[in-house]
Amino acid sequence: MATVTTASGANLSSMKVEVPGMSEQTAAPKQPWSIQDSERLFGIREWGDGYFAVNGEGHLVVMPERDPKRQIDLHEVIEGLREREIGTPVIIRLRDLLKHRLTEIREAFDNAIKEHQYTGSYCCVYPIKVNQQRQLCEEVRDYGSALGFGLEAGSKPELLAVLGLTENLPNMPVVCNGFKDSEFIETVILATKLGRHIIPVVERFTDLELIVHHAKRYGVRPRIGIRAKPSSQGSGRWESSGGMRSKFGLTVSEMLHALEFLKKHDMADCLNMIHFHIGSQVGDIRNIKAAVNELAHIYVELKKLGAGLDTIDVGGGMGIDYDGSQSDSPSSVNYGVAEYAADIVYRIKSVCDTAELPHPRILSESGRAMVAHSSLLIVDVLGKTNFPSDPDMPALKKLMKEEKQKPQPIIELVDAFEMLDQPKVNLVEVYHDAVQARDEAMSLFNLGYMSLRMRASAERLFWAIGRKVLALATAKGELPDDLIDLPQVLSDIYYVNFSVFQSLPDHWAIDQLFPICPIHRLNEEPIRRAILADITCDSDGQVDKFCDKRTTSKPVLELHELNYNNGDHKPQPYYLGMFLLGAYQEVLGDLHNLYGDTHVVHVSFDDSPGVGDWDLDEVVEGDTVKEVLSYVQYDHEDLIKSMRRDIERAVKAGTMSVGDGQSLLKFYDQGMEGYTYLE
Ligand SMILES: Cc1ncc(COP(=O)(O)O)c(C=O)c1O
Repeated sequence: MATVTTASGANLSSMKVEVPGMSEQTAAPKQPWSIQDSERLFGIREWGDGYFAVNGEGHLVVMPERDPKRQIDLHEVIEGLREREIGTPVIIRLRDLLKHRLTEIREAFDNAIKEHQYTGSYCCVYPIKVNQQRQLCEEVRDYGSALGFGLEAGSKPELLAVLGLTENLPNMPVVCNGFKDSEFIETVILATKLGRHIIPVVERFTDLELIVHHAKRYGVRPRIGIRAKPSSQGSGRWESSGGMRSKFGLTVSEMLHALEFLKKHDMADCLNMIHFHIGSQVGDIRNIKAAVNELAHIYVELKKLGAGLDTIDVGGGMGIDYDGSQSDSPSSVNYGVAEYAADIVYRIKSVCDTAELPHPRILSESGRAMVAHSSLLIVDVLGKTNFPSDPDMPALKKLMKEEKQKPQPIIELVDAFEMLDQPKVNLVEVYHDAVQARDEAMSLFNLGYMSLRMRASAERLFWAIGRKVLALATAKGELPDDLIDLPQVLSDIYYVNFSVFQSLPDHWAIDQLFPICPIHRLNEEPIRRAILADITCDSDGQVDKFCDKRTTSKPVLELHELNYNNGDHKPQPYYLGMFLLGAYQEVLGDLHNLYGDTHVVHVSFDDSPGVGDWDLDEVVEGDTVKEVLSYVQYDHEDLIKSMRRDIERAVKAGTMSVGDGQSLLKFYDQGMEGYTYLE
């Protein structure tokens, strides 16, 4: 049995309950809905980590510096963007929040260093693969250089980007991970000659041979890093990034061989750094502690053997509490930045103290922790479908009278529906009967023995039974295992103007959860329960798993009823925010159905006199249709020409007027310049 809780997290046994997608059967709440109820329901305090809250108007606000006096109202931003003709979906990047994250990491390590009397230094390098967008990387570089941070490149294009980004910053550390060819290493060696603080990391022994070869050729003494394959593994989705079978790194015996090789070439002093990466989003701090401990021991042993080591790079892994559960679930972490920093500093210090060696510089490649919070996506809801809860008995009875032979499954469904009014009804039994009767109705229809009207009645009755069963079960405060899927089966489908494949690729690919909630109307109770369907023609293009701080995930999201102006098919604007998207999502997104990059705006807090507490610093327009077509090798001019030829043929044949042809051509032409999403 699963215990059922209300929208506000209260136990159900004592009160009238809200049933997924059943607003019409819900009694008015005893207490008026408050913004605190919304904060609790959506776990905003938990995943928001002090950066997000709800204001008195029921709007979601960002506090980029965790200062309640400095808030940006997201609904106000969206309205402001609309006035400037920048529609949704739109990514909002918050540069003040980014700066705050970087500063928080810096301060966490500074505090740990002070507390443990650690004599080495700390530097965080940003792996640009986490999000290579130029504007973001430039902000990380600018804020980071003031904090003594660096950058990391994992491929040839990334290396070239990083070298360009660090012009005039010779002291900014640049770590080079990933597969390398001779050209890559030659570039690194020449960059060292240029005076850059660049550290190529040996992932395979052949990298070392190339480094030595090019270093000698150009007369350079490079800083060399070696990636270790520790036996300790991370936890969660990326645990195979570490451990003995990991794709990258050198085993201990290969590292010993590497040191001998360097000694032979009189370059042991160049082996400056030992590195590992046990995976991204490591949920359990114990895995980090174990791996750092092992790496520190490898460090002291290699140093004792004559390596010129002075730096330990603990790689990435610092995770984000996406679901707000503060647990080691795949979308959460059971530690914070301060604990992460303290454990790393303490472990390295104790191992080095025991070995009586100086404390090394510590590097971490905490890309996700740096940037995840600073980007969010706002999307608009286009409409919804929901399943009826009223079987419409009068209409059904009339229809049945017209049937020569009354279909048995319909009779059984009516019986099941009426049975639910009896006081000691067995809900599971009634539901099983309804499922069987519905399946039989479908078979009869498929064999040609049931009319379309009767089939529609069977479906309607089935939904009504499901809803009533769920309402009764929920009122009892528990959901039998056989009914566990009902909330999802009966939920509404809200159609949302975005592509999961472009904007939430990790949700589609690896079931990663991201916080999602409305950015306005948070002072109203969200009485619908829904899943979200995107606008791609793909059944995978939906979100049907949502963050829940209590159970870590839930199958439906609580949303508000859509409002319509009289006679309108389009609902009044209803916006949802998708949060903590700064890491990986923007760059992993793909062009499924040719939905391209969304618009991106850079927003910062501004409390100078004027309208609103925010500034629009930069607008990066999303892809146009013409652009995405060119990515798949279409020339938009060729397309327009072929359209024109077809229209001319239709005009000649008399099936289209010249005016209509011109209109079609105009739409076609304008469409090429337009946004790939619905406008
Ligand atoms: C070598 C390396 N360093 C750093 C990172 C970034 O890690 P995180 O996502 O934990 O910030 C990665 C990502 O997987 C990586 O492969």
